[in-house]
Amino acid sequence: MNLNTRYPHLHVIDHPLVQHKLSIMRSRNCPTKDFRQLLREISLLVGYELTRDFPLTRRHIETPVAPMEAPFLSGKKVVIVPVLRAGLGMTDGLLELIPSARVGHIGLYRDENKQPVEYLVRMPKHLEDRTCIITDPMVATGGSAVHAVDVLLKRGVSESNIRFMSLVSAPEGLDFFFRAHPSIDLYTCAVDEKLNENAYIVPGLGDAGDRIFGTV
Ligand code: PRP
Ligand code: URA
Repeated sequence: MNLNTRYPHLHVIDHPLVQHKLSIMRSRNCPTKDFRQLLREISLLVGYELTRDFPLTRRHIETPVAPMEAPFLSGKKVVIVPVLRAGLGMTDGLLELIPSARVGHIGLYRDENKQPVEYLVRMPKHLEDRTCIITDPMVATGGSAVHAVDVLLKRGVSESNIRFMSLVSAPEGLDFFFRAHPSIDLYTCAVDEKLNENAYIVPGLGDAGDRIFGTV
């Protein structure tokens, strides 16, 4: 079955620029500096799609030539929520698009059984009145993604105000995510083949956090 039929809230960003940049990142020879820069650039491009339906309102302005009713963003204020560590690599690109966004942090790591372990949550106030964009480049088993969404839901954010932005996903992770949260929009740039025995995405790009921060 077609992925979009199975998961109506899955958005695969197949723009050629995104695909080209991702292919460079995947290579084991891509240096840390380039990996970080490309992730930032891709985040900006995916952010453009992810914000496409943000609501607008008209306000009166005067150009040097004539008055007009000009469109301005009118929706809820945005919070970007990187999942540490790797989600931090997608934050700057999004902040370039939405400079006024607040930033919350969720710290998670995968234990020896690949279960997410939470070690930090810091959120701005009035979270329930905001649109939250969770960033994490990798959706492998999907455990971290589901946990991150649950953190926001527990703090009163409604499902319709949560979007998830990733880079590479495994089919297993998407299945786990959409079973838990079928109506949350998840943006990714590639759906890879499978997970390996260590729950790494194949072909994937390795450990995203290590590659962003040079801790390989
Ligand atoms: C990576 C990645 C996700 C998680 C995905 O983080 O950034 O958060 O794994 O795996 P899952 O879908 O199986 O939960 P990791 O736990 O390696 O932590 P790090 O970003 O600090 O390196
Ligand atoms: N986390 C990563 O960084 N990469 C994977 O392939 C799986 C989990």
